[in-house]
Amino acid sequence: MPSRSSKVVRLISTGWTSLAKTTKAPVELMQEALVSATSAVGINLSDIGGLIAVPSLADPHFMEAHYVATHMGILPAKNVVVRTVDTGGAGPVTALLAAKRMVEYEGVDCVAVVAGDAVRQLSGDEFLRRADQTCYHPASGLPSPVIPSGYDRIARYQMDKFGVTRAELAACSAVMSIMAAQHPLAMTKVPRTIEEVLASPPVASVTNLLECARRADGGAALLIASPRFLERKGIPSSTGAVIIGGGEASGPLYPPQLEDINEDMFSCEQATKLAYQEANVSVRDIDFFGLYDCYPVCLIRAVEAVGLADQGQGGRYILSKYHELVANPEKRPQDILPINTHGGLLAFGAPWEVPAMYNIIEAFHQITNTAGTRQIPNVRRALTYGNGGIFSHSAVAILGNGI
Ligand code: CAA
Repeated sequence: MPSRSSKVVRLISTGWTSLAKTTKAPVELMQEALVSATSAVGINLSDIGGLIAVPSLADPHFMEAHYVATHMGILPAKNVVVRTVDTGGAGPVTALLAAKRMVEYEGVDCVAVVAGDAVRQLSGDEFLRRADQTCYHPASGLPSPVIPSGYDRIARYQMDKFGVTRAELAACSAVMSIMAAQHPLAMTKVPRTIEEVLASPPVASVTNLLECARRADGGAALLIASPRFLERKGIPSSTGAVIIGGGEASGPLYPPQLEDINEDMFSCEQATKLAYQEANVSVRDIDFFGLYDCYPVCLIRAVEAVGLADQGQGGRYILSKYHELVANPEKRPQDILPINTHGGLLAFGAPWEVPAMYNIIEAFHQITNTAGTRQIPNVRRALTYGNGGIFSHSAVAILGNGI
């Protein structure tokens, strides 16, 4: 019988590139991030037995993971298995959970998860042409820009059903900008106010430009390994974070018409419930939350789904935190709000399917006490959430410090 500790799967290293506009291809960004992750723990690409990749929008490929592994020289090799995961923006979290299962059940000792994209490199028109296709269906009735319009529809549902206000939606962007301003890699350097968000150009009926995920280029990588791998490589057994549980659930690719929307289309609640069950924890045990926030309503529903606010109260929760942050500039933002200390998609930056990687990487830094000025004291457990499409897939993973 394997001992309990021999089944522990750890996220042992992370790597990323800058988010600045680049001429590099997504696969090059993935490689740069992966090399940064492997060198941080003194291993080589040849030590990797499994690779999971999420596809890019700027340069998509048939069998993305095979393309990436071949480009990087990880294939051909004996005993290497690679897979492409496509759950949209939930991809990195789905991949993290899949990597855990590869280590637990498939005998792979070290798995890399990579994501990279260069959507800032595309012209605005070309980006929209591609982005519009991803969630388009003739029955959806969503005009271009399809994705902001889809989230706008959900925001209106949330306003009609739960009384969410326009200021509460705008507060999400303002709060994320306050968080991003303290991260050296974040695209947003200066915090913005609710008034500035509301004065930015309208994109849809209740969605302005500063309430859209911020288009960016960038790559990121994770390394997931077994205790046996750590021992073989002489890496301390307590390195990184333990992946203690996760859950996933799905919704439709595009939302029903406004009058037909009901709670059935949402999946974050179910994914979170499954993750809490598997990790045997509740919201009170979580010290850091990396929540998907491509649009304000996504963050509002996430704070409710994870249990930080009651159903329908997520907007009020974020608005009250905004007022607290603004009224207490001498306090560290993370002591007021333990969410997205990096600034999320709205302010840190959003290279298409990559951004949930940043939720995971920030959770890794918080758990390993390497978050610098953004550090939350004594983080024992962190929750990370990725959302794909327009609430079409939710993946939640819970990390712990192993104690
Ligand atoms: N914060 C600060 N600045 C922002 C911003 C934000 N959140 N969003 C845009 N801007 C800035 C841009 O940086 C740009 O400034 P510069 O010219 O100085 O660089 C300016 O506003 C104009 O932005 P765009 O060039 O993008 O403008 P556009 O007119 O071509 O397009 C838009 C506007 C249609 C709203 C487009 O920006 C857009 O579609 N954004 C949303 C991107 C998106 O939906 N991403 C996916 C989110 S859903 C998801 O993540 C799930 C999944 O499965 C992938």
